Amino acid sequence: MRTRFLIGNWKMNKTATEAGAFVRRLTQELPTSEGIQVGFAPPFTALHAAHEALGSSPDFLLGAQDVYWEDKGAFTGEVSGTMLKDLGCQFVLVGHSERRQYFGEQDSWTNQKVLAALRNGIQPVLCVGETLHDRDTNQTDHVIQRQVRAGLAGIEGQHLESMVIAYEPVWAIGTGRAASPEQAVPVHRLIRQTINELSGAEAGSRVRILYGGSVTPHNIAEFLASEEIDGALVGGACLDPVSFATLAKVAIGSKPTTA
Ligand code: PGA
Repeated sequence: MRTRFLIGNWKMNKTATEAGAFVRRLTQELPTSEGIQVGFAPPFTALHAAHEALGSSPDFLLGAQDVYWEDKGAFTGEVSGTMLKDLGCQFVLVGHSERRQYFGEQDSWTNQKVLAALRNGIQPVLCVGETLHDRDTNQTDHVIQRQVRAGLAGIEGQHLESMVIAYEPVWAIGTGRAASPEQAVPVHRLIRQTINELSGAEAGSRVRILYGGSVTPHNIAEFLASEEIDGALVGGACLDPVSFATLAKVAIGSKPTTA
């Protein structure tokens, strides 16, 4: 049984001061995250404050939104896995569609970033997803397989099993137009099948695959009703601590009912 994982992606929102206030409110609203993992990814500048506010709480995981693939050196503006680990990061998003869309992130970069995270003992969350054009031109399967295969190239065994993949259709992100579970589930199956092909059914059965794209407290249960969907990556609805706590409470209370 895979442990479900709820992740909040703050994107470029909240100062360090606001992050501290968020964490204090979140931990009041949600003192424990029994049975699931709950994590959030503040901007780099708020990681330290969030970590301090969390104290030694084992109930929430701290993550970053990106990582550079070298551990140190002359790479102005970049942040390494070694630095993130030192700040208390336990996971990192890699290849979010906004990185791919606005910052030219390539599949080969996502692979190097996944490797850098693993090297530094940080769990990578590889984000994949098709654009509306890809979907309309029946390219979804091709694009998803390409992104998964490229992002995971050379990663095997326990490392592969510890991976998290987030399926986030680009057209569903921040649009209020979530994919339906009927649209998402076949893509989740395809991702798992691709991992099976890469590394065998054992690894495929362990990798967690999250859905992301306009997830809210109102629709999260529909996604989690499928045992193919191991959790959610949430943007807009994670910024308010009460809304994020509600998402977690629904996730804690929901059991898969369909394959
Ligand atoms: P959204 O963002 O929930 O605001 O659609 C999800 C994401 O980009 O991870």
